[in-house]
Amino acid sequence: MNIPQLQQEILRLKQEQDVCILAHSYQAREICEIADFTGDSYKLSVDASKAENKTILMCGVRFMAETCKILSPEKTVLLAQPMAGCAMADQMDRDLIAQVKKSFPGYTVVAYINTTAALKTICDVCVTSSSAVQIVNRIDNKDILFIPDCNLGAHVAKQCPDKNIKLLNGGCPIHACVNTDDVKTAKALYPNAELLVHPECVPEVCAMADYIGSTSGIMQYAVQSDKKEFIIGTEISIAEHLQYMCPDKTFHILSLKLICPNMKATTLVDVYNCLNGNDGEEIILDDATIRDAKRCIDEMIRLGE
Ligand code: 13P
Ligand code: SF4
Repeated sequence: MNIPQLQQEILRLKQEQDVCILAHSYQAREICEIADFTGDSYKLSVDASKAENKTILMCGVRFMAETCKILSPEKTVLLAQPMAGCAMADQMDRDLIAQVKKSFPGYTVVAYINTTAALKTICDVCVTSSSAVQIVNRIDNKDILFIPDCNLGAHVAKQCPDKNIKLLNGGCPIHACVNTDDVKTAKALYPNAELLVHPECVPEVCAMADYIGSTSGIMQYAVQSDKKEFIIGTEISIAEHLQYMCPDKTFHILSLKLICPNMKATTLVDVYNCLNGNDGEEIILDDATIRDAKRCIDEMIRLGE
């Protein structure tokens, strides 16, 4: 089967089986095309909780599928490619943070949504890159322990000067690899372009940007801007999607280091196989994990509204 035939077959199967397909914006175009919802991690978690289908199929990484299961425990949640983890989410586990928390009594523990379900059970509130600043500002406590991403945490700390924010040394190895030389090279090649970056990039790179935001934020900014040329400082799929969305504008990739192998692990064939019951993984979480992790996600939704 070629790609359009595979897509037709996927659309038929998902209708037949009452499946809602979610695709994170870092997924390939042919996957986004067959999805019911696409977007950043915050939007997907809210879309999934509102969907009426009995099954959710996540094309993204494991923590995103876990978040869907936590918000919709009565639904069957499938991860299209079981190998798709997140290098940042796997950096810090529950035992480590339980230990670290002892050194920060009285602190509110804010967990980036890129964390495992098990770790969320001992945190106070989740944030996504699009909601982190607003949520941290709305937390009553001045003392915040922000995990695991020190780059997103530094970005939040800059925007929330009244807060006392402690960071740990975690982060996204893909975004954190981009450095100021990469930015200088791209700016020299494309002097008229605006630089849009994800806050998972290091602070020195963020400081050189015209706009810092989540995957959805970057896309929205580029679509609405009067400017015609952009350098995109996040996973390369975003530049590709934008080029299709805005054919009259030009999008350059900040660095070819910005390819997330986990996000690229899912293929259209995986989606097809998963719908046929031949691949994919059903996300199973015990009741206590769902109950405790949900507190932290519910708090994110409450403070994010
Ligand atoms: P968003 O929250 O912007 O979707 O980002 C998720 C992610 O994994 C970025 O690397
Ligand atoms: Fe995780 Fe980084 Fe990939 Fe995002 S880009 S899914 S944070 S490894």
